[in-house]
Amino acid sequence: MNTKTTVISQAELNAQFACCDKIAAYWQSQGRTPAAYVETYGCQQNEADSEKLRGYLTQCGYQIVREAEGADVVILNTCAIREHAEQRVFGNLGALTHTKRRHPAQRIFLCGCMAGETKVSDRIRKSYPHVDGVFSTHHLWQFPEILWNVLSGKRRQFYVSDEPGSIAEGIPQVRDSQLKAWVSIMYGCNNFCTYCIVPYVRGRERSRQPEDILAECRWLIENGAKEITLLGQNVNSYGKDLACGMDFADLLAAIAQLPGEFLIRFMTSHPRDASAKLFDTMAKYDKIAKQLHLPFQSGSSRVLKAMNRHYDREGYLQKVLYAKKVMPQLVLTSDVIVGFPGETEEEFEETISLISQVHYDSLFTFIFSPRPGTPAAAMDDPTPKEEKSRRFDRLCAVQNAISEEIHQSYVGKTLRCLVDGVDADTLTARTEGGRLVRFAGSESLIGTYQDIQITGATTWSLTGKLA
Ligand code: SAH
Ligand code: SF4
Ligand code: F3S
Repeated sequence: MNTKTTVISQAELNAQFACCDKIAAYWQSQGRTPAAYVETYGCQQNEADSEKLRGYLTQCGYQIVREAEGADVVILNTCAIREHAEQRVFGNLGALTHTKRRHPAQRIFLCGCMAGETKVSDRIRKSYPHVDGVFSTHHLWQFPEILWNVLSGKRRQFYVSDEPGSIAEGIPQVRDSQLKAWVSIMYGCNNFCTYCIVPYVRGRERSRQPEDILAECRWLIENGAKEITLLGQNVNSYGKDLACGMDFADLLAAIAQLPGEFLIRFMTSHPRDASAKLFDTMAKYDKIAKQLHLPFQSGSSRVLKAMNRHYDREGYLQKVLYAKKVMPQLVLTSDVIVGFPGETEEEFEETISLISQVHYDSLFTFIFSPRPGTPAAAMDDPTPKEEKSRRFDRLCAVQNAISEEIHQSYVGKTLRCLVDGVDADTLTARTEGGRLVRFAGSESLIGTYQDIQITGATTWSLTGKLA
């Protein structure tokens, strides 16, 4: 194996499994089944990590429950992307003093991206004595050891050392959905966009071996998965650290050739590395959904440069044009930040004109939030908060009109959709492009693909009936 990436050895993992056994034996001797609650904040990466925590917890004998009250273990898997996300976590962490008072044996842990920030772990050390352990994403694979240390009476556990990161294969997973599965193909990020905290808390880019990813996908498909979403902060740099001769497009093609009825999605694609080869590969295989999340962040080339994004407005538009040419039915979504330090009114207008030009199906819109330690947090930011809010509202209004217009154009069409659940009194389904459809039908349809005729549309979703 030719790789720059540190791989956790089987022996190191076996030591974790031995801790699982000790914890399970401990609870057996107590004569009851313990309960564990995992609360997930942030993006799909954290969702995927929580599935591993639940896997470990299950192996330790815990039953997974849906609320913190009364649980023997509570884990908050946190997000650090914006200040607001962090405030919510601190609020909820504070509230856990009450659940612990009512159930003093409760063990509380904080992990995820916030745990990778020194200022957060220091604050917990000082001001949140009811928290028993903090571990960053680099140390998730050591969770059984951390939990055992706490249960066997050791002091509060802090596994927060800063590292480039490693890869651990073979951690058990308890998945939220057998139908729609997340598969992390790589971890970390090397891009250091100037506003973003992710590279500081999730370490350097590292890819899983293609055969491990393929084996996981094959297993998922054989066990009922109909949708697989490949995850990475920048999936287009997949394989660069492996010297395995495979890039992301090759990996997609290999998965698309697995037998079975399923769709592949992926996120996120960095526009700089999104290649014609990627779009051609998407176009070539029916099993790759014609859906692309391609964050542009700003329509202004000057702002993009200040963000360290390594593409400009023109380059971005050219890529979108090519992608739409080879995939006319492409559903395109994106992320955008308003109020980046120094963004002028004209530069903001460039963002508006870009979204009007591209016509995204939907957008994730954010107001810039300074993250201490990132270069953008130290940049001059003279624009008042109210002005940023005004820009934000304007952007949302323009996008909502576009989303609604695109959704209206679905009415009358019949689309093949995966029926994925129930919500209130309707079934829910997803189009190939990932749009939500509500329709009436029997719950026995869940897990199947159905042709649905679209009969109505709003900004956010479609309604339909079985064709
Ligand atoms: N790796 C992905 C994005 C992960 S973060 C990518 O590069 O596309 C998801 C989104 O959060 C980003 O695309 C960005 O739009 C937003 N974001 C990140 N840091 C932010 C900050 N400091 N303030 C506001 N939005 C931010
Ligand atoms: Fe953050 Fe940029 Fe990396 Fe995305 S590519 S995670 S925005 S640094
Ligand atoms: Fe948040 Fe970490 Fe994801 S900061 S957005 S949970 S990578």
